[in-house]
Amino acid sequence: MQKEISFFNTYVSPNAAQGVTELLNSTFLSEGKITEQFEKELCKMFDFKNIITLNSGTSALHLALDLLNIKESDEIIIPAQTFIATGLAVLYCKAKPVFADINYEDGNLNIESVRSKITSKTKAIICVHWGGYPCNMNGLKDLVKNTNIKIIEDAAHALGSVYSKENIGNISDITCFSFQAIKHLTTGDGGAITVKDPELYEKALRKKWFGIDRKNSAVSELGEREYDLKEMGYKYHLNNYASALGIANLSGYAARLKNRREIADYYKQELKNITALQLFKEEPDNKSAYWLFGLHTNNRPELIRKLKAKKVPTSVVHQRIDKNSIFGGADLSLINQTKFDNTQLHIPIHDAIDMETANYIVDAIKSSV
Ligand SMILES: Cc1ncc(COP(=O)(O)O)c(C=O)c1O
Repeated sequence: MQKEISFFNTYVSPNAAQGVTELLNSTFLSEGKITEQFEKELCKMFDFKNIITLNSGTSALHLALDLLNIKESDEIIIPAQTFIATGLAVLYCKAKPVFADINYEDGNLNIESVRSKITSKTKAIICVHWGGYPCNMNGLKDLVKNTNIKIIEDAAHALGSVYSKENIGNISDITCFSFQAIKHLTTGDGGAITVKDPELYEKALRKKWFGIDRKNSAVSELGEREYDLKEMGYKYHLNNYASALGIANLSGYAARLKNRREIADYYKQELKNITALQLFKEEPDNKSAYWLFGLHTNNRPELIRKLKAKKVPTSVVHQRIDKNSIFGGADLSLINQTKFDNTQLHIPIHDAIDMETANYIVDAIKSSV
């Protein structure tokens, strides 16, 4: 009998219990040496110049916008094909999210649409690597050349993704990651940012911990750290406890990513010629981290029902966020977004999917279309 297939999965390394128990016994639960070690290991594994771990991907997005001094009346261009957190981060700064269209073929920002949305108020573009597949970063870079517009990457789905030989995290002004429970790498909840500009990086270090410069503020004889707070800060740091889980889960990450890519290659090979399906488009130079595996179908409700009957879960994962009242309702002039929203569907891909299960999923799809 086919074992139960889940759509999402939380990966916890077999070594995690030991690492976390050691941490608990040390009683240094908040941010400290283990967080530093986690950051060093992330830099080593993904070749990042720097990384600052945080308590969520949402905090990462808010901090990114805050670092760029985004404020009321500024416009931030974002896709509607994302999770609500991307849009909320813009609202946290009282700025205006401006929704650009996506490519129907991959769910990522469409360069021409972004171009048409740029005004004198545009301060940043947040691109989302939908499902882990990298956006057209060269296209975006060309758009902002000779302007002051910054690019923030929402790479919540894209730890380990590669754009044209460059790891996601090393390309733009700021890149934001999420280590939430069902992401490739989890710390329970958590996130991180990589920051290109050294001054902004120092600013991020302060702002993630109340705005206090811990490196340059000593503890006085009276027993409190001496500081003069000059700017707004947040309690956004990741703690040792979560970092211990992150370190354990990081071991074997490359092998797990390889497994996801092999499953994806198998899906592509087996499903590419089915006329009732259109797989998301990929360029040969880019590598997705495959947080998701997506396709389009014109018979979505029927396919969902048939697959459910065969115990294969599917999901749209997130539908367009502009439809929410807080953002003013769906903008139907975003033609590709509207089409995408009606036909997109994702099939299971994660660490608990082995080739045998992938084979079962493929057979179930072939007998359902
Ligand atoms: C595209 C995207 N951005 C941001 C986030 C927010 O991340 P977190 O849940 O870690 O705050 C998510 C969360 O799932 C997401 O899917």
